[in-house]
Amino acid sequence: MKGNFLICKGCGQKYNLIGHCLLRDSETFASDYEFSREKWDNYYRGNCLKKLEDEENEYLQRHFNEIYKQISEYKPIKEVVYLEIGCGSMFFGQNIAKDCDLVIGVDFSKVALNTAHKLFKNKGIKNYFLIQADVREMPLRSDCIDLLYGGGVIEHFKDTQACVDELYRVLKPGGVSFNSVPYLNIGSLTYRQIWGNVPNVPILKQLAEFVHMKLLKARHMRFGYEMSFLGSTLKRIHKKAGFRTIVVDKFEVSLVFKSVPKLLRPLFIRLANSSRLFWPMVKIIGKK
Ligand SMILES: C[S@@+](CC[C@H](N)C(=O)[O-])C[C@H]1O[C@@H](n2cnc3c(N)ncnc32)[C@H](O)[C@@H]1O
Repeated sequence: MKGNFLICKGCGQKYNLIGHCLLRDSETFASDYEFSREKWDNYYRGNCLKKLEDEENEYLQRHFNEIYKQISEYKPIKEVVYLEIGCGSMFFGQNIAKDCDLVIGVDFSKVALNTAHKLFKNKGIKNYFLIQADVREMPLRSDCIDLLYGGGVIEHFKDTQACVDELYRVLKPGGVSFNSVPYLNIGSLTYRQIWGNVPNVPILKQLAEFVHMKLLKARHMRFGYEMSFLGSTLKRIHKKAGFRTIVVDKFEVSLVFKSVPKLLRPLFIRLANSSRLFWPMVKIIGKK
């Protein structure tokens, strides 16, 4: 520790320690990340407490129980050191904090972390820590996390392997990594193209990147860079990182399809629930 700064022993990056937050001294990230980070900063910007509370209530009603059930099938959420990668407002982490030894949120968007911080403070939660970092290179020592969750995060950059390697590094032996990502199927090849999803298979990937990023200049990519994956690709990446037990399955969530016209929503929901050709998201679980 030096003054108000901490310096990561691994990468040498300087961090500013402010209360429960560790913020990067330099806001410059790798260039392929900058474009996504701007999009996410804009996404979270201007959220007042009332709007956040409304969003959180909707999350608790629609999603929390379903996600809780799926994660705790692989690791009971009790007295654990929990890490939420790409935590955003960190609704999930805040609502399990009372059962955890410590909850840590990592996100590269400072605006997202401010949002999460407001909510933690408002609830009077003390056992949390928020870190501004790239999930491929987190200022955390190896083997320190029992359970980690990424809700729609590891698809937002090209180098998925580097990220999954990093997740493996920070987990304790026996620790569990649980991520949800868009599934590569009819859904990702059709309506997900509205915001520029990139199917992670050769040729389609290069084609989608050319169209969305070069021709259309990424203006419509409101979630920044986003890929969709085949189950076999996810398994291969996790196996290469070193994970022992690996499971890929449908990620059960209450479906909304906000980007689809209202009239078509019931049809989309029926299709998404009935066939893997239309599953919006899959979960990938890896045990170290
Ligand atoms: C789809 S949002 C998910 C937010 C939250 N997990 C949830 O379930 O509501 C993706 C989040 O990942 C963050 N993110 C994307 N790429 C990242 C990276 N390379 N490093 C850290 N955070 C990243 C974004 O800032 C954003 O908050």
